[in-house]
Amino acid sequence: MRYQSQSVAYWYFAVAMVLFGLQLVFGLLSATKYIGPDPLLYILPFDVTKVIHTNLLIVWVLTGFMGATYWMIPEESRAELHSTKLAYVQLVLWTLMGVTAIIGYLFRYGTGNKLLEQPLPHKIVIVICMLIFLYNIGMTIRKAGRFTTTEAVLMIGFVSAALLYLPALLHYENYTVSIFYRWWTIHLWVEGVWMMIMGGFLAYLLIRLSGADREVMEKWLYVIVGLVFLAGILGTAHHYYWVGVPTYWLPIGGVFSALE
Ligand code: HEM
Ligand SMILES: [Fe+2]
Repeated sequence: MRYQSQSVAYWYFAVAMVLFGLQLVFGLLSATKYIGPDPLLYILPFDVTKVIHTNLLIVWVLTGFMGATYWMIPEESRAELHSTKLAYVQLVLWTLMGVTAIIGYLFRYGTGNKLLEQPLPHKIVIVICMLIFLYNIGMTIRKAGRFTTTEAVLMIGFVSAALLYLPALLHYENYTVSIFYRWWTIHLWVEGVWMMIMGGFLAYLLIRLSGADREVMEKWLYVIVGLVFLAGILGTAHHYYWVGVPTYWLPIGGVFSALE
């Protein structure tokens, strides 16, 4: 560890691992409904356990992403984090949000929108945490005055991830419309901007661990960003097949998903 403030990453990973463990528990609980007999069937029914399973996944992955970023940015920008305290405040808020959401799901308190089940107060806390995070990272880079391509790709990923969450804050009466926009958030997250976030981390790791040439890595990052924009965005159409859009989405979705 080259910078003291990188140590916040440890707690982000610790929380991520606990939530990951819980995800597995709720995955196993969901699976027992299939292979039963399940004594918990009427206490923890499938809809409840599955919602918790998939939502924990989103929360732990994002916790890991944020922790890894707090680790990577000081090394890339060669400076301590802008505020370690803010990073911990964010983690506490984030964890409270995740835990209370699970408790809520146990009592079926949620929007029923698959993977985006978080109730509005939780969604607002998610947005606040994301803003704290972007501010902290942005200030660190600004103060350091060193902004690498690896960081740029990572930041484009995070800013886009935050922007894509905005449609999830709206409520649509029409189920088809609701499902349509839901895919903008879900697909463009997992097959679009998360790729950029992971691309940023991988480039950093390859430079650090295998001594790969930074210039070469950066060139490949541009290729990844280009592919994400082309294939990731149009590839979203592989979710449109069953939501009542015109048939031309079928070939578009097929071809660009294959490219992805
Ligand atoms: C012990 C390990 C796991 C078990 C037993 C398990 C079990 C399950 C079960 C039973 C379902 C519900 C399937 C259905 O709706 O019919 C499910 C859904 C899901 N699981 Fe897991 N799971 C495990 C680990 C994971 C991991 C590690 C991830 C990802 C990091 C994951 C991601 C998902 C997702 C995204 C869904 C929703 C799929 C959909 O509704 O289309 N699971 N899992
Ligand atoms: Fe997809």
